[in-house]
Amino acid sequence: MKVLERNKILIVDDAPTALDILRRNLSSQDYQVFTASNVSDAVKILESVPINLVITDYKMPKISGLDLIRHIRENFYETEVIMITGYASVKGAVEAVKMGAEEYLTKPFTDEELFHAVERALNKQELRRIVQAEKPRFSDSYGIVGKSRLVRKMLADIEKASKSNATVLVLGESGTGKELVARAIHYSSRRASAPFVPVNCGAIPEKLLESELFGYVKGAFTGANESRAGFFQTADGGTILLDEVNEMSIAMQVKLLRVLQDKQVCMVGDRKSRKVDVRIIASSNKDLRGLVNKGVFREDLFFRLNVVTITVPPLRNRPEDIADLIAHFTGKFADELGKNLPTFSDEVVQALMGYAWPGNIRELENLIQRLIIMTDGQKIEITDLPSVMRFSITPGSVPFRPLAEEEAAYIRRVLASVGGNKSRAAEILRIDRKTLRDKLKPNDSEINIATKKNNKSV
Ligand SMILES: Nc1ncnc2c1ncn2[C@@H]1O[C@H](COP(=O)(O)OP(=O)(O)OP(=O)(O)O)[C@@H](O)[C@H]1O
Ligand SMILES: [Mg+2]
Repeated sequence: MKVLERNKILIVDDAPTALDILRRNLSSQDYQVFTASNVSDAVKILESVPINLVITDYKMPKISGLDLIRHIRENFYETEVIMITGYASVKGAVEAVKMGAEEYLTKPFTDEELFHAVERALNKQELRRIVQAEKPRFSDSYGIVGKSRLVRKMLADIEKASKSNATVLVLGESGTGKELVARAIHYSSRRASAPFVPVNCGAIPEKLLESELFGYVKGAFTGANESRAGFFQTADGGTILLDEVNEMSIAMQVKLLRVLQDKQVCMVGDRKSRKVDVRIIASSNKDLRGLVNKGVFREDLFFRLNVVTITVPPLRNRPEDIADLIAHFTGKFADELGKNLPTFSDEVVQALMGYAWPGNIRELENLIQRLIIMTDGQKIEITDLPSVMRFSITPGSVPFRPLAEEEAAYIRRVLASVGGNKSRAAEILRIDRKTLRDKLKPNDSEINIATKKNNKSV
């Protein structure tokens, strides 16, 4: 039996016999089948029933299957499409893939091929749903924890970037949150309902990168038995993150530059480029400018990518955020692992605040996870920390600073020591929760830039 919510298939074909055969075949497999003999009837059905998958013929009088696919991609984002072509037409297939069909079948095809294509398309839909459910929920700060001046500046930059379509370059050391920033831009932009596609350029072998990014047409190379969409086609309407863009070879850099200039992508083996509507965000943990000077990164590409730059500061430059991050990750992992909120000894908090965090937020996140597993929700003592961190307590080395700042830092330390539990912190500090909240509020006006809803586009 097919799972109920994913079994509604609409078949669109102007030939009554073909329609009938497909209907009988798929009904026998427990799919709930709807049929239409033209595109306008199909659209009516799509508007009244939540269809999971559309199987459409390519050639139809009046309005073609391609127009139907285009309509589905624009209006029914979740619906999958399989296109049937009457003859082995590369052009039709490529167009179909480009328009957003998941699969195409060339007539004649066997029942087996049909069922496989249907299952593949439905599985893909299910996967996308799961991914979407796990998509971070963003409040005003898009899931980015921290109140330091540097983080507030970054949030303001993200907000500005999300209102434009400009290419963004995100720079920062490893583990600082570059991908989080890229996601925040995408999910707060108008493209939020289209895909966000992160591609780690450093992890894909040089030889494969071009076909992975741009896709390929059938026969482009040995083994290319069918056309396949690349990351750029998948991201159409959305955003692509070219992570570790500095790892791209010079040859690939030239190809990427062309995409940026023409807004067109050429599938490997295809003679024509096709338009794509993709916002590009690139990230690098190396100083790209420096790489340009060394001659290993093209200057023209650097300028194209560097329209808007967001620099994610290393954690050691924003120690004010450490306590908030400890509280955030403690809550997250205690919850996920079903453990009690642990408490941190004062010494531990001091050590963590004094540590340099070469692995930045990822290192902090991993440490908290490990501590919660190891200490099983009990009190965390200095001996639980790795030795490099134990020696980072430097009493008396803090420079003088305003009382309010010192007070806020102290409150954060107390908060972190009780795993972010505000009532416990207020108890220890002998103040009420409201006072606690007030004292933690940043008192300059900068924060409003990041959180205020500003409808004017940039
Ligand atoms: N400000 C933040 N608040 C909460 N979580 C954060 C923050 N910044 C980063 N993280 C978390 O830290 C981890 C590392 O972040 P991310 O993967 O975005 O870093 P990165 O800069 O892309 O690292 P790399 O260069 O290694 O790819 C992720 O789990 C991310 O959710
Ligand atoms: Mg990353």
